[in-house]
Amino acid sequence: MTSAELSRRFETLFGSKPRIFCAPGRVNLLGEHTDYNDGFVMPCAIGFSTRVAIASRTDRKLVVQSEEFSERREFDLDNLPAHGQGVWSDYVVGVGVMLQQMGVKTAAANLLVRGEVPIGAGLSSSAAIEVASALALMSLDGAKLPLPEVAKLCQRAENLFIGARVGIMDQFVSCLGKAGHALLLDCRSLEFRLIPVPESVRLVICNTMVKHEHASGAYNQRREECDQGVKILRQWYPDILALRDVSVEQLEQHKEQMPATIYKRCLHVVAENCRVQEGARFLTVGEVNRFGDLMRESHRSLRELFEVSCRELDVVVELAETLEGYCGGRMTGGGFGGCTVNLVKKNDAQRFASQIAERYQAATAIKPDVYICSAADGAGVG
Ligand code: GLA
Repeated sequence: MTSAELSRRFETLFGSKPRIFCAPGRVNLLGEHTDYNDGFVMPCAIGFSTRVAIASRTDRKLVVQSEEFSERREFDLDNLPAHGQGVWSDYVVGVGVMLQQMGVKTAAANLLVRGEVPIGAGLSSSAAIEVASALALMSLDGAKLPLPEVAKLCQRAENLFIGARVGIMDQFVSCLGKAGHALLLDCRSLEFRLIPVPESVRLVICNTMVKHEHASGAYNQRREECDQGVKILRQWYPDILALRDVSVEQLEQHKEQMPATIYKRCLHVVAENCRVQEGARFLTVGEVNRFGDLMRESHRSLRELFEVSCRELDVVVELAETLEGYCGGRMTGGGFGGCTVNLVKKNDAQRFASQIAERYQAATAIKPDVYICSAADGAGVG
């Protein structure tokens, strides 16, 4: 649905002309489960976005309608719920609540949401709706936050209102992604550098169709295990604040003094941070095969050390090795299902996409969705 179509639909539903804001989903090329450890990530925004159309109302209501769920929900702006209720509108309301907590007097509004980021696929449909809603609500509230602050606001909505302890990566790249580039983000300082993705490759995203569930505990549990690792390591390195501050050598020195699981989680994060730094150097000089090898290593580490992969993701990653034009790939996002991201030579991308789909279906009896993507721009108007 185009912006113009969404605008017409809004007028039919609410009888006024809206302003429209949009925010993209993302795919992460390298640096998984590092963001909440103050580490490094390298995501791109992708061409799937969520659009939010908005216009003001004269009462004190927030009326939110979704095109996907064909459902309308109404809220009293002076009495918004304190926590999410496990429904799609939580992402919009959560952002509104966070704005109010910042002292912004939120205006009454009608909102129409139209998302095209596949839901539950690990492509950050939640960040997309949060960021688009934040821009929409702020346009009426006169709040003018810089984009990195918008990203933090949306992360807070997800942490405090929805109850998923996610890091900053998804919201940040949804706000600040740039066409043709990956974003090398330092999740501690929020400094970032744009890394060009060579024109010679495409990002082929293969959706295993296995739904992941962040709030379902496994993600939060990984976070706790990382925190535990930091606590243990502080006995010898009192100055460390997060796994970001630990080197592989430091970790190895105390391997025997840590529970095996905690050690494995820490090793993944510490080595993954190094891979991101190295990967940024390779991508910058167009070394796509060497970058691809780091993606392979990342996948192995997520499977064996961090233990967030699943059979279907591993199947796609193995099948990809047999196909022409493949430079490397891995699971992307939180894990436990969702997508793999494959770096594929441009001229082979189409064939790669159809062959991986065929072979995955033959191996698992599940028909996957496969998308050929390029890095896209972050959030904005329209
Ligand atoms: C999810 C979270 C991110 C990040 C990834 C894992 O996508 O939303 O903050 O932690 O998982 O890298």
